[in-house]
Formats: sequence, C-alpha cells, structure tokens
Amino acid sequence: MSTLTEVAHTLVSNGRGILAADESIGTMSSRLESVGVEPTEENRRVYRELIVTTPKLSDSVSGIILADETLRQNLSNGQTFPEALADIGVLAGIKVDTGAKPLAGAPNEKVTEGLDGLRERVGEYRRLGATFAKWRAVFTIGAGLPTNRAVRANVHALARYAGLCQEGGLVPIVEPEVLMDGGHSLAQCQQVTRAVLRSLFDELALMRVDFDSMILKPNMVVAGKDSSEQPAVAEVAQATVDALRDTVPPTVPGVAFLSGGQSPEVATNHLGAMQNLDQLPWELTYSFGRALVGPALDTWRGNHGKWDAAQKALSERAVANAAARAESKG
Ligand code: G3H
Repeated sequence: MSTLTEVAHTLVSNGRGILAADESIGTMSSRLESVGVEPTEENRRVYRELIVTTPKLSDSVSGIILADETLRQNLSNGQTFPEALADIGVLAGIKVDTGAKPLAGAPNEKVTEGLDGLRERVGEYRRLGATFAKWRAVFTIGAGLPTNRAVRANVHALARYAGLCQEGGLVPIVEPEVLMDGGHSLAQCQQVTRAVLRSLFDELALMRVDFDSMILKPNMVVAGKDSSEQPAVAEVAQATVDALRDTVPPTVPGVAFLSGGQSPEVATNHLGAMQNLDQLPWELTYSFGRALVGPALDTWRGNHGKWDAAQKALSERAVANAAARAESKG
C-alpha cells in the first residue's frame, strides 16, 4: 500500500497531470445539453467511458478525478471506473464537496459545503477504489470582494476537508479558485490569489494537515475575462509563480492548476511558460477539466461514429500539456 506522500508524488511527477472529470450531475448535464446530448445517467456514464478508455491516456495523465455518480457506475465491459483506471496505471480520485452555496452575511459570495458525514464518505470512497480527493472553493473578485468572511469560511472548510482525507487515507487536492469572472486586472488577481493562499496555508497548518501529502490546485494568475487588458503569456507565468513562491510551502509535492475558463491552448501555453522561470520547489502540472476534455466533448456530441475522433481530441490536449511540462525542463 502506498503512503499518502507517495501517492501525492505519483500524481504530479513523471511529466504527467490530472484530468478533472468530476463535474456534478447538474454541471455535466448542462455540458451534455450544450452539445445536443440528452442529459441522462447513461449518457453521463458513456461520456466518462469515452474519457477513461482513450488510448495511451496514461502516458500523460496520472489520475482522473471522478464524480460520486461515476465512481458507482461500470464500463460496458463490467469493470468499475477505478478498476479500469488501475488496469492502465491511472489513479482514481473523487470530488467530495457538495458544491458552493450562498454564504450567510456575504451577498454574492459562496462557501463550499460537504463536511457533514465526510469521515464516513472518505471510508466508503476508499473502499470503492479512490486514492485521492478534491474539494473546490471559489472566490469572486469585485468591489470589496472577496470579503474576509468568505475567505476565512472557505479556507477553514478546505483545511478540515484536507485533514479528514489524510486521516482516512486519501490524498487531498486542495482547490482554492479565484474566479476569472469580471473585469479585474492581473495585479488584482495576483493580490487576491496571494491573500487566499496565505490564509489557506495558515489554516492548513492550524488543522495539522501534512503539506507533503497534499496537492494544491490553484487558479493561474490572469486578468478577468472582461478586462480589456489581457497580459502576455510571460506576464501570467511570472505573476503566477511569484504568488506561489510567496505563499506555498516547499514541502508541498505539487501544484496542479485548474484551467478556469481559459481556452485549452492558452492554458497549455501558460503552463509551459511557467516551467523555466526559476528553480521551484514543487512540480508544476495540470489538473484541467474543460481545457482537457472540452474539444473531445465538442467532437463527440453523442455520435458513436465520432468516438475515435473525440478520443483523439482528448489525447492531443493531454499530450500537449505533458509536452509543455517536458519541453521546459530540457
Ligand atoms: O473544479 C474544477 C475542475 O477541477 C477544473 O476544471 O479546468 O475546467 O476549471 P477547469
């Protein structure tokens, strides 16, 4: 049995990254509807089967984050999803939060829920074959936002989640996402990202979370998507690495970025540009959702005749991201 630290290192090393296929039933259903696919339980299962059976995926993907529904489903050959992943050398993860809900006393801000019963669910997820977990908190930039209330509520929940996962034998992916929504500048995003990460690591330390047995999954530092001043790739890379260097302890094995609404190509370019900047203590990799699977979903559109083409589209994104990591070290 691997230790948590070994699992954490496996997830971020050898040039591979993590694929986020853990959209909630609601989010996955909307994404299916957006490409003309009826949002049934079976169609969600088939789409996830397309992802995990993509040839050679394990060359560039170390782990796949699944949703609760998927963890309990089977592939058409009868295997469970964790069994199928184990066969190809990919670790199975599970999203354990139950979503971001309005935070009392903080209009327009959310707190992520899911701590109730989490100890028991962690045990069950382990029995179902998961080795790591994910919890996502969101932070909005705006006039007076994020508030201290929202930051503290969310980092507290993230830290309690991480502690419960480590206690129960799952590596926690800790995901504080500063959202791209709005017209904010790169500098504002950097300032908020720094403040959130600083507060997060204080809380993780308070809750006695082992930094060497977790993965940080942050946003890249970018300008808001409505900003008219979009920074160059090199500026995003430098701003992101600077924010991380100021806040992330060196014993954290890896930082695996979310894509957050960036196009697949832009997210990959940003990842590549970060690698050569400085000597960094952690691996920098990807844990993209949309930036990895978006082109595949758009190609598939529920058409079985497009199965191979959709898998090729996913494979191309996965290979491009692994190459962005590798090229850098060269
Ligand atoms: O929770 C969000 C996912 O884990 C990452 O998704 O890359 O589409 O932002 P994204």
